[in-house]
Amino acid sequence: MRMYDIIKAKRDNKILTEEQIKFFISGYVSGEIPDYQASALCMAIYFNGMNIEETTALTLAIRDSGDKLHFDNIEGLRVDKHSTGGVGDKTSLIVAPVVASCGVKLAKMSGRGLGHTGGTVDKLESIPGFRVDIPTDEFEKIVNKTGIAIVGQSAELAPADKKLYALRDVTATVDSMPLIASSIMGKKLAADDDCIVLDVKTGSGSFMKTIEDSKTLAQIMVDIGKKAGKKTLALITDMDIPLGRAIGNSLEVKEAIEVLNGRGPEDLTKVCVELATNMLFLAEKGSEDECRQMVIKSIADKSALNTFVNMVNGQGGDGEYILHPEMFKEASFSMNITAPKSGYISRVDTEGYGTASLLLGAGRNTKEDSIDYAAGIILHAKTGDYVNEGDVIATLYTERKDAFSSAGKKLLESTHIADEKPQLRPLILAKVQ
Ligand code: URA
Repeated sequence: MRMYDIIKAKRDNKILTEEQIKFFISGYVSGEIPDYQASALCMAIYFNGMNIEETTALTLAIRDSGDKLHFDNIEGLRVDKHSTGGVGDKTSLIVAPVVASCGVKLAKMSGRGLGHTGGTVDKLESIPGFRVDIPTDEFEKIVNKTGIAIVGQSAELAPADKKLYALRDVTATVDSMPLIASSIMGKKLAADDDCIVLDVKTGSGSFMKTIEDSKTLAQIMVDIGKKAGKKTLALITDMDIPLGRAIGNSLEVKEAIEVLNGRGPEDLTKVCVELATNMLFLAEKGSEDECRQMVIKSIADKSALNTFVNMVNGQGGDGEYILHPEMFKEASFSMNITAPKSGYISRVDTEGYGTASLLLGAGRNTKEDSIDYAAGIILHAKTGDYVNEGDVIATLYTERKDAFSSAGKKLLESTHIADEKPQLRPLILAKVQ
């Protein structure tokens, strides 16, 4: 078998066989297939798609590309959640400790920033000392002992996704249904959780721009999860507007801490409460209403915040930063962006906001780029708000002063102001199960 023929077949819109897909994944992981051939295939998949059989074969090949987790000492069901990616989407940082503080175990494998979206692993690494590169046996030990850990993909677990994820990030091949579905479900199945809640984002800041596409993606992933014997459901949530007010790694950690202290932004809190409620429900902790009350209580009595502190300490981080978020280093430079005219913020291109944050240093342009953890944006006005000409609508933070002009321009281009107050759609748009 030759990789050339596999690329050519997909380029010509043919259906790939399970053997071809397995050949690609094992060859790419072993290093026999180089990045340039893998990116050519990803681009062909981006343009020509994959049917459900190909997508399932790709998912299983990613799952089987490394070890699987085993949690022999854990009683009860283990649950996980995964987002398809958004701007200002720090829900995992909140939902994971909430659910763990309600007595459900969570062994989470998360990703780095991808395209214009941020990643949980980069956000966690903005906490001094926090380790995400934990070998499988230690990961299992931490979860067995403390009930929660969030790690990045190691060389042992779903290594195919680790390599493909980094490659797609810099080759404009992220927003493809089969590549997203197999990436997410490949690693979720390798982690071998019992229950999976998927947060499928929809709108201008997500990889799926329409509700129809988001529902299709959600159904593909739910079906793959169920076929593999996992209790799986998906919430379709709004990403036409950034979630919360912070975009960028340590800025988002600080906002997540605000939510865990019970004083976070309403939209972010609501989405987190619904995700956590569904996770507890799938883990059979009670009726949906009972689960919602448990979630609300775990925030109100700070048990979720304490679980977050324990998790950070358990993974080598300094938990004092969670209790005293003012300890996070601030960016050296900041700049306010003002409204060019009066009116309602009628619409924002949320992907443009994500790109502005990348330009400030919060993400990568090449696989080797390092991240400026303090870089990003704080939004002072969001869709639906009335602003007067000259009002500050956002503050940009960076270590690179020369990034202000391109990032500021991108943010302003992405912000639309009109006389009419816009109708906002619900945050939770559908449930797919
Ligand atoms: N999250 C993932 O883990 N993979 C994707 O491809 C997109 C979002």
